[in-house]
Amino acid sequence: MTRHFLRDDDLTPTEQGVVLALAAAMKQDPYAAKPLAGPVTVATIYDKPTLRTQASFSSGIAELGGHSMLVDGRLAGIGERESVADVARVLGRQAGEIVWRTFAQSDLEEMAAHSGVPVVNALTDEFHPCQLLADLQTLREHKGALSGLTAAFLGDAACNMGNSWALAGATAGMHVRFGAPEGYAPDADVLVRAKEIAEETGGSVSVTSDPVAAATGADVLITDTWVSMGKESEAAARVEVFSPYALTTELLGHADPEAVVLHCLPAYRGKEIEAEVLDGPRSLVWDEAENRRHAQKAILAFLWERR
Ligand code: NVA
Repeated sequence: MTRHFLRDDDLTPTEQGVVLALAAAMKQDPYAAKPLAGPVTVATIYDKPTLRTQASFSSGIAELGGHSMLVDGRLAGIGERESVADVARVLGRQAGEIVWRTFAQSDLEEMAAHSGVPVVNALTDEFHPCQLLADLQTLREHKGALSGLTAAFLGDAACNMGNSWALAGATAGMHVRFGAPEGYAPDADVLVRAKEIAEETGGSVSVTSDPVAAATGADVLITDTWVSMGKESEAAARVEVFSPYALTTELLGHADPEAVVLHCLPAYRGKEIEAEVLDGPRSLVWDEAENRRHAQKAILAFLWERR
């Protein structure tokens, strides 16, 4: 069975640890391991805006000895000119792995079902698991073991980052709290799954509409844009709903005195995060952005070795 990385719980707790350790080793020595030397072609497709993802996959695949092939989804007409399944069959004959940023998780699953090669989720509406590997790698660098740490995710948790934090945090044995307005918690089925995983790992997952309760004593505060890609028409209403959940210096004051701050970027200073927090000493966002490369190299290598 070809392995894929479509959502965070595609890795068991043990496997997540293996991938994070590999990512750390690859960061220490970026050119040491060349599992894609040959070179293996990795097809990369971006149907939504991208900076960090495209840059980090391109440079990471090069460091692995592979070749990054950019496929223009609009030129290909994926799902319109030809079906996702047919695109998968074609790309699976040209590439050793496929990386896709798109809208529907179901399309990504369709790609994986027909490609015959590993498929990696580079963000969908539902999940952003590569970002979570980078987030966890960053936390490990600054906090050591992840198990038992408390994370507070503030703001719009009804998005890819909220869902992925629920699953990946639980997999890591963390206590994940969401501080989000009513109606903006992670997806109900994702919360059920995350709680099942947490039972196994000793972590926990909870949701509150009180941002201070979520942040109090936390080891890491996380936020994300209030207007995810595709939600632009709701921007004004969202700013209104999420304003009480902004990651401010005041809110950070409720967290553990050694708490750190993560944001997947792009960040909107003065909206979901105060400039003083994003640009302040507790912020790890630039390490987090760099770690996309190392973490993604690790998952590409992990899948390639198990193809
Ligand atoms: N939730 C955000 C993440 C951006 C990396 C979005 O989907 O736009």
